[in-house]
Amino acid sequence: MGCESGALDTIVILDFGGQYTHLIARRVRALGVYSKIVEPEEFDPEQESALKGVILSGGPRSATGGGEIKLSFDLSALGVPLLGLCYGHQLIAELMGGRVESGLLREYGLTRVTAAEGGYLSEGQPTQQDVWMSHGDHVTRLPPGFTVTHSSPAAPVAGFENSARTIFGLQFHPEVTHTTHGMAMLERFVRRCAPPTWQTSNIVEHLVEEVRRQAGDRPLFLLVSGGVDSLVSLVLCIRAVGKERLTSLHVDTGFMRHGESAEVMDHLARMGFERLHVVEAQARFLRALEGVIDPEEKRKIIGRLFIEEVDRAIGELALPDDWALVQGTIYPDAIESGGSKHASTIKTHHNRVREIERLIKDGRVVEPICELYKDEVREVGLELGLPPELVGRHPFPGPGLAIRILCSDGRPPADYAASEPEALDLLQPFGLRGRLLPLLSVGVQGDRRTYQHPVVVWSEGGRLSWETLREATPLLVNRLEKVNRVVLSLTPLEERAYRLQATTLTGEAVALLQQVDRLVRQETKAYDEIWQAPVVSLPLLDEAGDRVFLARPICSRDAMTASPFPMEFDAIRNLEERAREIPGVGALWYDITDKPPATIEWE
Ligand code: XMP
Repeated sequence: MGCESGALDTIVILDFGGQYTHLIARRVRALGVYSKIVEPEEFDPEQESALKGVILSGGPRSATGGGEIKLSFDLSALGVPLLGLCYGHQLIAELMGGRVESGLLREYGLTRVTAAEGGYLSEGQPTQQDVWMSHGDHVTRLPPGFTVTHSSPAAPVAGFENSARTIFGLQFHPEVTHTTHGMAMLERFVRRCAPPTWQTSNIVEHLVEEVRRQAGDRPLFLLVSGGVDSLVSLVLCIRAVGKERLTSLHVDTGFMRHGESAEVMDHLARMGFERLHVVEAQARFLRALEGVIDPEEKRKIIGRLFIEEVDRAIGELALPDDWALVQGTIYPDAIESGGSKHASTIKTHHNRVREIERLIKDGRVVEPICELYKDEVREVGLELGLPPELVGRHPFPGPGLAIRILCSDGRPPADYAASEPEALDLLQPFGLRGRLLPLLSVGVQGDRRTYQHPVVVWSEGGRLSWETLREATPLLVNRLEKVNRVVLSLTPLEERAYRLQATTLTGEAVALLQQVDRLVRQETKAYDEIWQAPVVSLPLLDEAGDRVFLARPICSRDAMTASPFPMEFDAIRNLEERAREIPGVGALWYDITDKPPATIEWE
């Protein structure tokens, strides 16, 4: 069970490893048809009772020669509209009797194409269009029965179609905003597949039905974390099976933000939901994490202890034997923890630890919103009548503040070299100075997890701008092998020295972080534009023995990719000043790295 959809009109996106696969999925949904990402090897059209269309994604492979990909189904016999994008376009050509060649002119970036008259996807659009290209191979011969719909100087077959059979191919990416008429092309395709049914009111109905179907007659047990996802799941379950069949538990790990556990309780009480039990486990969590430094180790311990606490509470609650667990897992969570076969494990999310995997295998987990992206969860929450303040609450990781306190044994990482002349050289043209930090944070580069050094940069006194920072940051990360993240200090650090301090998780460390986190939350304007603003405590102390903190406000749509929120420098400066009024706080830096290469959280 777990994440599984019923018979809802579906467009399947076969993922060949392209970087825009999620974007395609979200665009299709925005056009009103449910879409899901499927591994090509695992796609079985027979199992898809409501299949209305298939999109073949881009990807890093080459379709030349046709030998590399062996699909276990017959692409020409699917009987639903088909759209190939980039690599998918070439694959259709190769498999249906055309030809793909490499080694000709390459095209990367914005390119002008000519749309042929009568092409279905570009009907009613201008003949000359800007599109986003990214390819080295080209279709050089059309499959029989196809016509050219788009061409560019380097790609004579930049688009093709067999309109009678509703098969389309585009060498470029209609899903990215650079392609001026991309959304219109996707809309033409999606409408050819199905009428709009993926709309908030229908989604709610569908999810309620799904909960009923998955739950059967069993009583449901749900963990409330304090975040939007579990709250929306809870309300959906109440609507699906009624309050009486639902028991809920909140484990207070002690790693919540200031006051948030209490707020959750209050809200649920106000909703008239009384079957909520609270486990006060703060001390046990701290004890289990004593002296632990490695982030994955911390995550695993927290995940395991969480399950133990839940197990114990369930024993005490004397639930009937056949209860099923409800989880607020959302779509990107399931994929990011290795839910999809080709995604490598970047971080172990607590809702996919081994114990939960086992429950899922046993069919004991119901995940009402695991088909949804975060913005869809919020829309569903509003539709269910939840207040906007709660629905708009920033995402917060399961292991909470525990993974926002970087720990250290006091020794720098093995490959750390305090002076990094190369970094300084790279920064000089920007009027910036920088220093490699003796600690590591998690990043994601080339779809893999990295664990590397951040660089802290500051201005040499000239005019600082976000444009400069946006140029300098990728340069550092791309050129310096040891670096996956860049942070900004608005206080020049020339004269300041920081020492690495042996740091582990303690109640005091959590309390101090809660204070800085609360300040950042209160002071951060533009709440709607900011997806999330983690505050992190570093194992670095200044000469006075005060600790370094940093804020990471980011803009994102689904946490799969993110960019730093370009806050006014005066506002950041003010934030640092206010933070330094808190006893024990020495500095507040600002993370200026995109995701990728850096993840949102530091651990
Ligand atoms: P990263 O750090 O991987 O985070 O870029 C992506 C999103 O996931 C959140 N996050 C978690 N959420 N359990 C969760 O439920 C976790 O263990 C976890 N780790 C990270 C993070 O806050 C961001 O929104």
